[in-house]
Amino acid sequence: MAELGVTELGMAEPADVHSTRAAYNTVAADYAELLRNELASKPFDRAMLGTFAELVEAAGGGAVADLGCGPGRITAHLDSLGLTAFGIDLSPEMVAVARRDHPGLQFDEGSMEALDLADDALGGIVAWYSIIHTPPARLPGVFAQFHRALRDGGLLLLAFQAGDEPRHLDFAYGHEIDLDAYRLPPGRVAELLRQAGLVVEAQLLREPDGKHEKTPQAYLLARKPACV
Ligand SMILES: C[S@@+](CC[C@H](N)C(=O)[O-])C[C@H]1O[C@@H](n2cnc3c(N)ncnc32)[C@H](O)[C@@H]1O
Repeated sequence: MAELGVTELGMAEPADVHSTRAAYNTVAADYAELLRNELASKPFDRAMLGTFAELVEAAGGGAVADLGCGPGRITAHLDSLGLTAFGIDLSPEMVAVARRDHPGLQFDEGSMEALDLADDALGGIVAWYSIIHTPPARLPGVFAQFHRALRDGGLLLLAFQAGDEPRHLDFAYGHEIDLDAYRLPPGRVAELLRQAGLVVEAQLLREPDGKHEKTPQAYLLARKPACV
C-alpha cells in the first residue's frame, strides 16, 4: 500500500502527491519564466492544441479544464484559440503564478485524481505534461475521473514524454527538489484510455527538439463517445 501523508485539510494522500506539490511550489516562479514562450518554438504542439480547439468547438464547445495547468501558459493559449478555458493545479504556488500572469482567467487548486467537478461538466480536458507524476498504477483512476467529468462528445488531449521508465529528479529549474516522473509508452496510455471508455482519435509521436528534450514526445487525442 502507498505511503500516506496528510493534507492541510486533514485528508490522507499518497506521499508522492505531497512531494509533487512541494516540488512545483519550489520551482513555480522559475518554471513560469523559463517556459513562458516555449510554445512559440513548438509547431507540432500548437497543431495538436489547435486541432483540439477546433474539435471542441465542432462538438458544441463548453468549458475546457487545463488539468495540471502549472503557470497557465497552456490555459492562456486555449483562451487565445477561443475556448472557455480554466486551470486546476496541485501546487498553490503554481496557481498563484498563473493568476498573476493571467489575471483574466480562472485558476484553482485541486487534483486530477479527485476532480471537484460535476459529471458531464466539460467540453474538453487538456493534461499537458501533468499525468507524468502520477504512478502509472493510478492512471486508470485519473482517466476514470476524466471520463466522468467530460460530457458526451467531449475531447481529451494528453501530452507526455514517451518511454517506459520512472525517473527521480533532485534538481530542476534551478532548484533542489524531490520529484518522481514517469515516461510512458503511448500504446499503453491509449489502451488505458480505451479501458476508461474513451475513444482515441489521433496520436502523434514527435522527435525530441534537440535542445532540452531527451525522448520522443507523445500526444493523444481522445473523445468520450455519445451514449447510444
Ligand atoms: C510539468 S508541469 C506542466 C505544467 C503545465 N501543464 C505546462 O505545460 O506548463 C506539471 C504540473 O502538473 C501538476 N500536477 C501534477 N500532478 C497533479 C495532479 N494530480 N493534479 C493536478 N495537478 C497536478 C504540477 O503541480 C505541475 O504544475
